[in-house]
Amino acid sequence: MIKHNSPIAVIDSGVGGISVLNELIKIMPNENFLYFGDNKNAPYGTKTAEQVRKLMFCNVEYLIKKDAKAIVIACNTATGAAAKELRNAYKDFPIIGIEPAIKQSAKYKEHSNVLVMATPLTLHQEKFFDLMDRFSDEVNIVTLPCPGLMELVEEGKTEGRELDEFLKKLFEPYNKIKFDSVVLGCTHYTHVKSAVQKALGNDVMIFDGGEGTARETKRRLAELDLLNDDPVKGWVRIECSSQDKDITELALKLLKNSAS
Ligand code: DGL
Repeated sequence: MIKHNSPIAVIDSGVGGISVLNELIKIMPNENFLYFGDNKNAPYGTKTAEQVRKLMFCNVEYLIKKDAKAIVIACNTATGAAAKELRNAYKDFPIIGIEPAIKQSAKYKEHSNVLVMATPLTLHQEKFFDLMDRFSDEVNIVTLPCPGLMELVEEGKTEGRELDEFLKKLFEPYNKIKFDSVVLGCTHYTHVKSAVQKALGNDVMIFDGGEGTARETKRRLAELDLLNDDPVKGWVRIECSSQDKDITELALKLLKNSAS
């Protein structure tokens, strides 16, 4: 039975969604959270939409059985591949997704150059084409698929030489373009925000969808009268599909890092 103190479930293919979890905790510290990283099946971003959809249906079923009162899909790839279908299947259940923060970057500066970094699958989905269409008159969007980057984050390489080299190579073909902003369209990339800033320079503004997703989650829960009114600080439980102890440790480290 769903109660006010039932957990909000947060899903990603791995530790990426911890960046969204941090935003959720920031604005709803008294909520309980169950984080689920499907790292056994990661990466999602180089799979087909059908494969990701199938995995997400299993994940959602599992988390509903765990008494989640809402599910936050803290993964741009999974939101694009499955959010619509999941909402159709679980009609009265709150399912909140994340999308690349193009709207924020368009608001930041009109007619600017925006670099959108995301997984190959995110950038090939209809949901993303629709989003781009909405802002194509306002900003000039360059898309950059980044296969391999989420893997570095999953290995805990959120800083250091290997990451810097990877980013240098990734940005090399765009050296002549002066970007005004960068959209981190994959929740894993928020964990390497400092390295991206270092590679592209301090005058580039960096956006991600974490904060907006957290705000939307709070709004939906309030609308459904599901916010936890218990004044004590909530708990956070982290589960990963691979049972890998190192991954849980990394998740806890990233949780602490971004929370500070
Ligand atoms: N963190 C996920 C996202 O926001 C994707 C990572 C993956 O490829 O599994 O898109």
